[in-house]
This record gives sequence, C-alpha cells and structure tokens, in this order.
Amino acid sequence: MKTKQIVLASRPKGLPTSENFRSEEVYLPAIKKGEILLKGMFYSVDPYMRGRMNDAKSYAAPYQIDQPIVGAVVALELESESNLFTSGDVVVGGLPWRETLIASEKDIRKVDVSTFRPSYYLGILGMPGLTAYFGLMQIGKPREGETVVVSGAAGAVGILVGQMAKIHGCHVVGIAGTDQKVKTLKTVFGFDEVINYKTTKDLNQAISLACPKGVDVYFDNVGGEISDTVINNINFHGRIAICGQISMYNAMDVPTGPRIQPILLTRSVLMQGFIVGNYQHIFLEGTQQLAEWVEEGKLKYTETIKHGFDNLPNALLGLFRGDNTGKMVVEA
Ligand SMILES: NC(=O)c1ccc[n+]([C@@H]2O[C@H](COP(=O)([O-])OP(=O)(O)OC[C@H]3O[C@@H](n4cnc5c(N)ncnc54)[C@H](OP(=O)(O)O)[C@@H]3O)[C@@H](O)[C@H]2O)c1
Repeated sequence: MKTKQIVLASRPKGLPTSENFRSEEVYLPAIKKGEILLKGMFYSVDPYMRGRMNDAKSYAAPYQIDQPIVGAVVALELESESNLFTSGDVVVGGLPWRETLIASEKDIRKVDVSTFRPSYYLGILGMPGLTAYFGLMQIGKPREGETVVVSGAAGAVGILVGQMAKIHGCHVVGIAGTDQKVKTLKTVFGFDEVINYKTTKDLNQAISLACPKGVDVYFDNVGGEISDTVINNINFHGRIAICGQISMYNAMDVPTGPRIQPILLTRSVLMQGFIVGNYQHIFLEGTQQLAEWVEEGKLKYTETIKHGFDNLPNALLGLFRGDNTGKMVVEA
C-alpha cells in the first residue's frame, strides 16, 4: 500500500523553513503480528520538535535526514494483527508523519472518544496538559492570594497554567504576543491582566503595574528578555518553573543575559527546570485531574486546527510566528 510521508530534508540553520521538509510517497509492507494499520486523524506540532531537527544530543533523539518526522498522532485503527486492539479503535502514540501508518502495539494506547474529542489527547489530556499541571503544581506550588505570571500565555501550556492558577485563587498575569490574544485570555479564560510583549514599550513597568504585590510564581515558557524582566520582579521565596525557552530555539548563538543569581540568592528563590516525563509515574493522577476540571467546566480548552496533512510543516513553523491560540493541531 502506498502512503504519503513528510521527512526531514535538511537541518535548519536558525528559523526553519518549508525547504527543511519534503513530502513523498512510500510503500508500506503488510502488517505483522503485534502490529496495527492506522489512518492518521490529528497530528500534534510542538515546539520541542524544533530541537529534534538539530543534530544535537538532548532528552529526545534527533530526527534523521530523509526519515519521517515523528510526533504525537491520534489515529483510527484500520486493520489489526494484535489481540489488544480492534478495528475502529482510536489510539494515540508517538508516530511518524504518514497519512497511513503501521504501529507496534507497544507504541500506542487506546483513548476514549465518547467523552472527549480525539484531539484533546494531543493537548489538554496529553503532554501539554500534563506539563502545565505538573510544572505548576509540583514546582510553582501556587497558594491562594499569590501572584502567578505565565509567559507564552495563549499557547497550549500557558492557557492551562493561567486557568489552573485561577482555580487555586491566584492573581494571574499572562504575557502574549497579540492584542487579540490579550483580549481572549482576559474575557474567555479569566486572566486578571495580560501584557502584549510585542507592543509594550516598558515591560518592567508593565509587569510591576500588573503585579502590585510582586511575582510569587513564574511559569516560564519562553526565556530570553521576557523572563529576565519577570525575574526582576520576583518576590522573596518565589518559585520559577522553567518549562520552555522558545525565544531561543532558533538562536544560532547563546545570548548573554543579566546574571540572575544575586536575585535568586537574596530573595531565596527556587528556580527549577523540568521535563514532563519526570512525572511519568503520576501521569494517571494528572490526567484524571485534568479530565475532571474539563468536565466540571473549570478548565476551558481551545485549539487552532489547521486542515490537511500537507499543512504539517507550516503548522509547526507557525508556532514560532505565534499563529496559534491554544493547542496547534493538524487534522488530516
Ligand atoms: N518541559 C516540558 O516538558 C515541556 C512540555 C511541553 C512544552 N514545553 C515548552 O513549553 C513552551 C510552550 O509550549 P506549547 O506547546 O504550549 O507551545 P505554544 O505556546 O502553544 O506555541 C508557541 C507559542 O510561543 C510563542 N512564541 C513564539 N516565539 C516566541 C518568542 N520568540 N518569544 C516569546 N514567545 C514566543 C507564540 O505565541 P505569542 O503570540 O505569544 O508570541 C506561540 O504561539 C515551549 O517553550 C515548549 O518547548 C515544555
């Protein structure tokens, strides 16, 4: 059987372009025992995939040239040589960017699509939801009345962090890149204040105005100058969860910033980086809590859905242009 796939054609220097990807047709072999034939329904694009385009050692292995990009995919089962799955099942797993694909039964798990939309397993009930939950609860440890600042606030992780901090009775301040995102976060998602970092002339002043009692928890999705400025406003015994550094993912050189150690020292601040996989042993707890909040209407969810398998590279590149509000996914 023939199918379309998208491979890494070349490694980017700086910001990736569509030239770094190639679409082509390949033949799939017949499925063997323990394998399942799947049709891709929803494909996730995530900022960490940029790091995998480099030939550099990290927590996720680099993509190989001329090999398909791999990411989280929700797929429909067409045919099975496994006792664990039957045709019609909807599954999720880390799978290649192919329209039709073969997976080993070890690499996928069945999801319940009677209660939640299939794409939720790429976002709020998947890796980004768990990232927001564990980063905030295990490192940020928000307490009622405290001020929580989140950068990348309108994205998949940030939009959930802000709402979870509201659930915990905090004053929530977001930082995002368009006036429309600012408006949506305040009117739909209940953020108290949101700052447009692209148009605000004096970010330090904007943060101190939005956080009159200082910053107790900073959930950092972006790094760079935005984070330097938030950290300047951190309170005594503040907590900083380093989740992502998207402002630097395309940087060719590592920029030098202010030396923040004196702030951490004199204000007794805890700053901790984390990878969501650190919390694998308690994923079930996180997923159950997220599902409960969604069902109770305490956690609202939104997605930016691009249509068509061929749109995958453009959707991934769109994360670096700020094209998305909520989770960016591609519906095949
Ligand atoms: N530690 C972990 O295990 C883990 C897991 C998942 C995600 N992450 C990290 O968490 C962060 C958010 O991930 P996500 O999936 O929720 O992505 P996302 O926020 O949905 O998408 C990326 C957003 O980042 C913003 N952005 C892009 N370039 C920027 C820049 N130079 N400066 C400031 N903002 C920029 C854009 O929004 P604007 O319009 O606001 O610019 C864009 O919409 C990423 O850094 C990601 O790598 C970490």
